[in-house]
Amino acid sequence: MEPIIIANWKMHKSQDETRAFIEALKPLLGSKKAWIAPPFTAIQEAVKAAQNAKIVIGAQNMHDAPQGAFTGQISSSMLKALGAQFVLIGHSECRHVFCESEDLIHRKLVRALEEKITPVLCIGEKLEERETDQTADVLRRQLTSALEGISDLQDLIVAYEPVWAIGTGKVASPEMAQEAHMICRKILAELSSEKIAAKIPILYGGSVNPKNIAGLLAQPDIEGALVGGASLDVNSYSQLIRTP
Ligand code: PGA
Repeated sequence: MEPIIIANWKMHKSQDETRAFIEALKPLLGSKKAWIAPPFTAIQEAVKAAQNAKIVIGAQNMHDAPQGAFTGQISSSMLKALGAQFVLIGHSECRHVFCESEDLIHRKLVRALEEKITPVLCIGEKLEERETDQTADVLRRQLTSALEGISDLQDLIVAYEPVWAIGTGKVASPEMAQEAHMICRKILAELSSEKIAAKIPILYGGSVNPKNIAGLLAQPDIEGALVGGASLDVNSYSQLIRTP
């Protein structure tokens, strides 16, 4: 399976910058596929620019209700109407900076699946949790609370992003990431079946760059990467995608 390399642009890039990035990316793609999550305001422009290219556009978050009096929020059907095909759910910044609860993350995940937008469920431990040997417990709690009661996990992507590695330049070693991915796969098998768990792509995120990606992708349970900083520059993002 070709690795899935998702660009998470966070609060970066205007519509014009998005269009220019995608136009520059197209000739650099070769036969590879790109996955980009621009800010809400640039999704439509990104979808338009990505037409006739192997570029999938998604969103960075969504609300859990189909519609209603939720000032400032965006629903899954609005994203779908714009052409978004995947959505990040439970990103560490949403959990820890915007205080999204595990229950809310579960409801968002259910809504995304109902809407048929592929959820990319982000999980990961904080530094103090790793240092006190709680990583496996945190991963189990986050996966179980998000996925409990969901019978069909076929259209799911998981991103393991240790909080201490996000935006810090401190990447997990390939071995450390592989160990966490193996734990995630085992928990996913318990929540569904070994057959389904084997097919769920588990991406690594946290300070991925063109220098360290090859070692990560060489691990048996790492099927791609969720990339922030290094995805903002078209040359560095295309290098990540073209890493064999
Ligand atoms: P980073 O961000 O690559 O800048 O560490 C990753 C993420 O937040 O998904």
